[in-house]
Amino acid sequence: MDIILTGDRPTGKLHLGHYVGSLKRRVEMQNSGKYKDIYIMIADAQALTDNADDINKVRSNIAEVALDYLACGLNPQKSTIYIQSQIPELCELSFYYMNLVTVSRLQRNPTVKTEIQMRNFHQSIPVGFFTYPISQAADITAFKANLVPVGEDQLPMIEQTREIVRSFNTLYQEVLVEPKAVLPENSTCSRLPGLDGAAKMSKSLGNCIYLSDSADEIKKKIQSMFTDPTHLRVQDPGHTENNPVFIYLDAFCRDEHFAAFLPAYQNLDELKAHYQRGGLGDMVVKRFLNEILQNELRPIRERREELAQDLGEIFQMLKIGSEKAQKVAAQTLDEVKTAMGINYFRHGFGD
Ligand code: TRP
Repeated sequence: MDIILTGDRPTGKLHLGHYVGSLKRRVEMQNSGKYKDIYIMIADAQALTDNADDINKVRSNIAEVALDYLACGLNPQKSTIYIQSQIPELCELSFYYMNLVTVSRLQRNPTVKTEIQMRNFHQSIPVGFFTYPISQAADITAFKANLVPVGEDQLPMIEQTREIVRSFNTLYQEVLVEPKAVLPENSTCSRLPGLDGAAKMSKSLGNCIYLSDSADEIKKKIQSMFTDPTHLRVQDPGHTENNPVFIYLDAFCRDEHFAAFLPAYQNLDELKAHYQRGGLGDMVVKRFLNEILQNELRPIRERREELAQDLGEIFQMLKIGSEKAQKVAAQTLDEVKTAMGINYFRHGFGD
């Protein structure tokens, strides 16, 4: 049976991009009951690889991310939710995996390359940041996860993990499991654009709708969304492709939303056709999108507010999850050391 593992860096609250790109899917997988184990990791140690000077940001966002998880429907009875830094075995695994990866291979990792550019590290790349693909391989293999639900930007990370697993299993013994990435089914959901039309919804670009946003904030953000810059007057023909309002509709709108909020149309194709012909104003489309998103996010926000009343309980849940995860990682580490022949005091120096 399959074992799932995934995680998020606690550098901010989670937003709509995380929600359609991965949270929704995780909850469905969790509730399907089809998986042996599900591990959801708050990757605080990975977040520190480029935030060493801002521990407080990472610390404070651990609870925010945990609240976002539970509000979306992740359930600690069914999924193990834990904090990466509380599993020291991950460091030990990384230390041995480091010997299986070359500097040039890390330099060629496309995710690392883009992230280095985004952060303007130039020649001052922290070693911990540069090597985080190796620690991510430890995150995944410590739990023998074979399925890793992630956004497409993480594909090079999974590939790097697979290479480490193959090297380890060939050099020593078949202990580790090669994972596969699980991408969102709908390509629109893989990478939700920002409110401003930028390729990605991202905290650093300030173009996000957060799961914790109030109804009013959501409405204002939608009203000021970027649309089709050539659609100046209502009667002008408009473009629906590369238009974030329509991309969000692709991700969220279902036929029943028309009956409920915009009965003049049957489905999204009809609405798009009208917009393309001309005669349909942005405000109508934005109002419709607002209804849909309010409807989707209201229960999440309300649940989140309720859970935030008792942070003690959230930390207790994380503590229990971390203890459970630590035991599993310790077991794998033990197998790894045995496979490498370095469990000296257990097996003796002779063999
Ligand atoms: N790198 C992931 C991100 O930035 C977070 C992460 C850390 C992760 N370890 C992981 C994801 C292991 C999947 C599996 O979103």
